[in-house]
Amino acid sequence: MYLGLDLGTSGVKALLMDGAQRVAGSATAPLTVQRPHPGWSEQDPDQWITAATAALDRLAADHGPALAAVRGIGLSGQMHGATLLDAGDRVLRPCILWNDTRSHRQAAALDADPQFRRLSGNIVFPGFTAPKLRWVEDNEPEIFAHTAKVLLSKDFLRLWLTGEHAGDPSDAAGTGWLDTGARRWSADLLAAGHMAPEQMPRLVEGTEPSGTLRPELARRWGLGGGVVVAGGGGDNAASAVGMGAVADGAAFVSLGTSGVLFAATGDYRPAPASAVHTFCHALPGTWHQMGVILSASAALDWLAGVTGTPAADLTRGLGDTLRPPGALTFLPYLSGERTPHNDAAVRGALVGIAQDHDGADLTRAVLQGVAFALRDNLDALRRAGTDLNRVMAVGGGSRSRHWLRIIATALGLPVDLPADGDFGAAFGAARLGLIAATGADPAAVCTPPAIAETLAPDPTLRHAYEEAHGRFRALYPLLSGIATPAEKREDGP
Ligand code: XUL
Repeated sequence: MYLGLDLGTSGVKALLMDGAQRVAGSATAPLTVQRPHPGWSEQDPDQWITAATAALDRLAADHGPALAAVRGIGLSGQMHGATLLDAGDRVLRPCILWNDTRSHRQAAALDADPQFRRLSGNIVFPGFTAPKLRWVEDNEPEIFAHTAKVLLSKDFLRLWLTGEHAGDPSDAAGTGWLDTGARRWSADLLAAGHMAPEQMPRLVEGTEPSGTLRPELARRWGLGGGVVVAGGGGDNAASAVGMGAVADGAAFVSLGTSGVLFAATGDYRPAPASAVHTFCHALPGTWHQMGVILSASAALDWLAGVTGTPAADLTRGLGDTLRPPGALTFLPYLSGERTPHNDAAVRGALVGIAQDHDGADLTRAVLQGVAFALRDNLDALRRAGTDLNRVMAVGGGSRSRHWLRIIATALGLPVDLPADGDFGAAFGAARLGLIAATGADPAAVCTPPAIAETLAPDPTLRHAYEEAHGRFRALYPLLSGIATPAEKREDGP
């Protein structure tokens, strides 16, 4: 039996998988995000441990014998978080999350130093870890001075589980401090970010053991000794492992809080100017590219919040048939945008509202706006030298067939929906746990799921969608100069 633990933004998920890769059970526990100032997004790392403990306690209650049989654990988690620890491994401040944009000035300053794009293969985005540490140095010098270790979010769970400071290259590639081609920390980038190699955890590949479960935790849930904890991966790489997207060209679209268009690549193909991310994959000797939009399901959830209608009811109300996009255009930049704009200050817009627009028109506009932002990501991936011919759909938003049809038509690509099952990051993490514990061949383990249904682009709407995407694209330059007064205050009180 193997356990995948995924530390998401909205909750911790624990998933049990047997040796034949059948899911034996899962449990989740919720997390909240604190937004004390505009542009800030934080979580208390102790809340992660409380939530992971609750999820494991639930698994123990519901599937006790299966949990007790676990031999390998894999970790995955939200990327880019800055968890700052002092020399006694005490947490110094709330973790600054992936969608926190307070460090946009520090990010621009680091990005202007050419060695960052050259060695890390990426733009230094405000959500990445390196500029967050520069922000802490500028604004909380006492805390910066006491920072003995910086851990990514899932690696803080590993410290709790094993007592080890360790990370993996897929997650580390999102810090800005990694030599992504060489899959190791760059002493030059760390120095340029005012950090030292001793402040970093050691790196092991996602499929390698990083330590063993502490005996007191093993006892709590009835596990035996020597349970291996694998390196694991950032949530997108781990999801790709779960979906079997590991061979060159295999791709998926993820509709979570954020949206991701992900393609596995057999080699390292940095293309920072495209604003595409080029990160290590969770399997040794492989990489991936992805475009990231900051608000996917988050945009629909926003509409659900303001209309007081659950997101599932909003999409269900649209029925099955796609309509040509109307003049109402939604730009989903509610928290700024990464690919392709790299713009932390831009905010969303609804343009072209008319008297006859109703709630369904608004929902359609939001779903289309997210799809057009993903189309911008597809164009960016193509500019970066990676073409896709189909994508698998994953994440909460993929429960809406209507949204998937919109996305297929906006991308001009067939969208494959896996047969019922749980192929997300926690499942991918469990696969990494299995490989680390047994030494199994990653290619034999990381196979794609059966496809239940393929949603094809609607050829009759192709032209209307192209035109609407053109209108969508024309709006960003008009928005990009507008920064709200709140945004100007985002550096703090
Ligand atoms: C990836 C990214 C998000 C988070 C969400 O670069 O920022 O996908 O990993 O959990």
